[in-house]
Amino acid sequence: MNFIDRLHKLFAPLVNPQEEQLKLALEALQANPSEVAPHLVEPDGCIPYGRNVLLRTDDVEVVLIHLPAGAKSLPHNHGDSFGCEIVVEGELTNLLYQTGDDGRLHDAGKEVYPSNSLVYVPKDQIHAIENATKKRVVTLNVYTPPLAACQQYAPEEPAQKEADRVKNARFNELFDQWASSYDETVYDSQGEYQEVFAGYDRILAAVVGQIPLGSRTVLEIGPGTGNLSRLLTRGGYHVIGVEPSPLMREQLKRKGIEIDLRDGHFLSLPLLKHEKVDAVVSTFAFHHLPLEEKREAIRLLQSHLSDRSGRIIIADTCFIDEASKQKMIERAKRNHQHNVLHDLLTEYYELHEDLRTVFQKNGMDVSFSQLNNYAWLIVATYPEAKQ
Ligand SMILES: C[S@@+](CC[C@H](N)C(=O)[O-])C[C@H]1O[C@@H](n2cnc3c(N)ncnc32)[C@H](O)[C@@H]1O
Repeated sequence: MNFIDRLHKLFAPLVNPQEEQLKLALEALQANPSEVAPHLVEPDGCIPYGRNVLLRTDDVEVVLIHLPAGAKSLPHNHGDSFGCEIVVEGELTNLLYQTGDDGRLHDAGKEVYPSNSLVYVPKDQIHAIENATKKRVVTLNVYTPPLAACQQYAPEEPAQKEADRVKNARFNELFDQWASSYDETVYDSQGEYQEVFAGYDRILAAVVGQIPLGSRTVLEIGPGTGNLSRLLTRGGYHVIGVEPSPLMREQLKRKGIEIDLRDGHFLSLPLLKHEKVDAVVSTFAFHHLPLEEKREAIRLLQSHLSDRSGRIIIADTCFIDEASKQKMIERAKRNHQHNVLHDLLTEYYELHEDLRTVFQKNGMDVSFSQLNNYAWLIVATYPEAKQ
């Protein structure tokens, strides 16, 4: 039986496996360098090692890692997963880290594993993998549950981390509370928010429809319970989702939507400097930033667009001018829509003119199309991009 068939036979049946079962399966596989070699992939420019997912079930993810000579990953964790790995070829260096009370990463030791070593990767481990030799290193890794919401620690991030955490707190309470009933709200045809979310599915589709042809990777900010994420994955896009609310992230994962989901927010993007995407999308989230922070957010998002044909596509509440905003405020008062009124008075629902200025100052043109009485489709493009 060939390597892939053996791998499927051993790992596909595993249900909620424990450490011992993962180790036994890895040992039983008897992966040898020559039969594994055809499945190695080269680093893709985003991460310094090649990563090939050989199997992913509801319970396990088996990944073949190829670390070329001298390669070293950034420190990262594995979200809620734990796992085991076997060194198929070469000598692996595992650099361990801990977060201190100051929120910074501290070195916590180094382990060196020769080939055939079997290594347990506990759930809370923060580590970096390194090939300190001149020959390639190949490891076969299995994680359970399949990887989601892994966190990378960019070199400059630790100093920023504490401040970011404080900022994060600003958004999370409300959305943590709303997470379990959020989908009811957006599909409610009677409640107070019915008009705000009217045509919700059509709005999400309109956003997807603006993604430039040929795009592969899309960055979604504030995916919430993942309704747009699901549409994007169905469209075949690879989606990186950045969501600050832990309970929103949990809802999204519970629905089985497969995106690369990360903790972060508009002003603290958990992406490596050189990680690029073809488009950025966001629905009903941009209004959480005050106008001055919106400009900074656009600048950060632009730094991850792969080229100048990339777009930023947003659906959110905004108003043509002050008069139309006031009209909606008066209407909410008349109709005793206390929650909507509160939002109109406290959220950062901008006027078109102000949003246009924010994008123009960042060198982008912007178009507005109305989606319902509140929501507009906002599409930002570089002037030279072909339509
Ligand atoms: C109204 S929900 C929209 C969810 C989803 N995009 C949708 O269209 O249904 C707003 C989402 O944005 C997230 N959020 C709030 N402030 C944010 C910020 N500054 N950066 C990124 N996401 C934010 C919330 O946690 C929440 O999941």
